[in-house]
Amino acid sequence: MSGVRRLDGKIVIITGGASGIGAEAARLFTDHGAKVVIVDLQEELGQNVAVSIGLDKASFYRCDVTNETEVENAVKFTVEKHGKLDVLYNNAGILEQAGSFLDLDLERFDQTIAVNVRGAAAFIKHAARSMVASGTRGSIVCTTSVAAEIGGPGPHSYTASKHALLGLIRSACGGLGQYGIRVNGVAPYAVATGLTSINEETAKMVEGYCEATGNLKGVALKARHVAEAALFLASDESVYISGQNLAVDGGFSVVKLTI
Ligand SMILES: NC(=O)c1ccc[n+]([C@@H]2O[C@H](COP(=O)([O-])OP(=O)(O)OC[C@H]3O[C@@H](n4cnc5c(N)ncnc54)[C@H](O)[C@@H]3O)[C@@H](O)[C@H]2O)c1
Repeated sequence: MSGVRRLDGKIVIITGGASGIGAEAARLFTDHGAKVVIVDLQEELGQNVAVSIGLDKASFYRCDVTNETEVENAVKFTVEKHGKLDVLYNNAGILEQAGSFLDLDLERFDQTIAVNVRGAAAFIKHAARSMVASGTRGSIVCTTSVAAEIGGPGPHSYTASKHALLGLIRSACGGLGQYGIRVNGVAPYAVATGLTSINEETAKMVEGYCEATGNLKGVALKARHVAEAALFLASDESVYISGQNLAVDGGFSVVKLTI
């Protein structure tokens, strides 16, 4: 790490911070001077991430993002503990198995929308209320996906949810600009995490798939690369950037490979 601490003194909530991209962001953001509250359903894992970072810099709060009261309480917990909230990294998400549209499971569709869209909306609402109340010019970052921009790479419900999340980002950008609050997305291609793999073997398969189907060769996309992009959008280095969806996909979503 360079000597520059890009989130010095910032208070950050990271949803889905017990695993994968969120856990990596918790490590990176605290390295950059932030105090982080990890929000997740997975209590033991989330607590372990906080302990491994150091409880002076990270804490865990159990919250189901589909429950608005729990979301509101997670924001209250953060403000009571640290006095304010500067950054929300809305990253919790779920993914269903790929399958034929003809067999679309609408219960699973509802669950996916509830977590990936409604959960993000609830957190933006309560985080923004807190930022407005304290006069904080905050930054909100959401993990979208290449599936927010194009159909095909993701399962159907997931793709619909990530397109909706991008709509939410743009709408919140419009609604919150007057308070000095920025709202952006980071849009990764496939990364080996708990979402896409269950062990080392399947993680290698995900990286192999990414390498074979990706546009940019010679780099395997890691959770760290996504966290670095989120760090930029969370920090004051992106002070006039809002409403954007920063692709971390090596060009996958803008190039149609012909061979
Ligand atoms: N891994 C990829 O290939 C990939 C690609 C593009 C986008 N993304 C997005 O990145 C984000 C992070 O995923 P990841 O890959 O790190 O996967 P992950 O499974 O490792 O992490 C997701 C976390 O979200 C938590 N979560 C799920 N439902 C929740 C709920 N209702 N309330 C609170 N927490 C909940 C999970 O417990 C988990 O810890 C997701 O939004 C995902 O859609 C991932």
